[in-house]
Amino acid sequence: MADTSLNSNFNSISTDKPSKKDEGEVVTVDEAKLRYRRPFMDILNAELDSEYKELILSLPKEERWFGPLRNYRDFWLLQQVLEQVLAMQEVFMSRPSDVIVASSMKSGTTWLKAITFTVMHRDKYTFSDHPLLKLNPHDCVPLIEHTYAARDEKYLETLPSPRVLGSHLSYSMLPESIKASKCPIVYICREPKDVFISLWHMSLRFEKSKEPVSFEQALELFCQGRVPFGPIWEHVLEYYTKSLSSPEKILILKYEEMLKDPIDGVTRLANFIGRPFSEEEIKNGVVEKIVELCSFNKLKELDVNKNEIVNETNNGIYFRKAVVGDWQNYMTTEMADKFDEMTKEKLCGSGFTF
Ligand code: A3P
Repeated sequence: MADTSLNSNFNSISTDKPSKKDEGEVVTVDEAKLRYRRPFMDILNAELDSEYKELILSLPKEERWFGPLRNYRDFWLLQQVLEQVLAMQEVFMSRPSDVIVASSMKSGTTWLKAITFTVMHRDKYTFSDHPLLKLNPHDCVPLIEHTYAARDEKYLETLPSPRVLGSHLSYSMLPESIKASKCPIVYICREPKDVFISLWHMSLRFEKSKEPVSFEQALELFCQGRVPFGPIWEHVLEYYTKSLSSPEKILILKYEEMLKDPIDGVTRLANFIGRPFSEEEIKNGVVEKIVELCSFNKLKELDVNKNEIVNETNNGIYFRKAVVGDWQNYMTTEMADKFDEMTKEKLCGSGFTF
């Protein structure tokens, strides 16, 4: 029989098996796992088959690294994801109680999902019996666009409020209902050279069967923004600019600052999403416990993240080194200088620095 010990405490995720799914009903651990991971392979193999097909096929295409990607309104997306992003614009309904975890790929999404989920649901779960001990953070916080791309959008409606949902979309591409709603967006960004190195390693594990691109070519494509959800600079700037005009809507967190002072990062996030820590919680070390539960070393060593394979993807793919400046081990000085020069030009006048 399934382990039901979590059930009384758990609202959104249970190890029990519910029979039907309406809003607020529990989702089993096994279902949660399959929901997020199924998309990856299915999406890549799916045929375009909607009213958007013609439009998508007319857009600039890139398929040397990842792909096939299409350029839509200055951002590159997997064409199958783009199809569903266009379709979901009108139909995705955000709730004012939602919290959106937004990021470019490889910028600390897994970590921020874990933290936001834990902060938001800290009244429901105990630290010794927490969903994150059994589920990868991506299974606790589904990516909106991938859920749509997997034609599984009803799943999002079954999740009880308050939902924590993820997105890699640029701010301009988010569904209108997210932008118009009061739901807060927490955005994490990371120094782009480290993002590139992280993405490079991920691609080595993902694209085994394809003709591999060289490191130099991948770097060039990254700098041109020709990667899923790229270019990273414009991605960050859109969220940053919006955070200046609507500071109550978007909180910008930097991966490097979070690593240096995770207590401060978690506290700021809790305040921002309207779940500040009480004096008693602070006295009882709740903030430290959240930091510890979501830490790289803790999550990485969990059986679910070390050994579990879901649809041919080992959860270990989300946990590599988690250090600042790993680019130094891979890039020549010339590469790094060129890269930095470009970052400087892109951010010039924006007031933002990594
Ligand atoms: P590295 O490849 O540099 O190690 P994303 O989650 O957006 O895909 O980002 C992945 C990066 O975040 C990886 O960086 C990964 O190791 C790191 N990461 C994953 N979990 C983390 C955690 N709990 N704390 C800090 N970094 C984490």
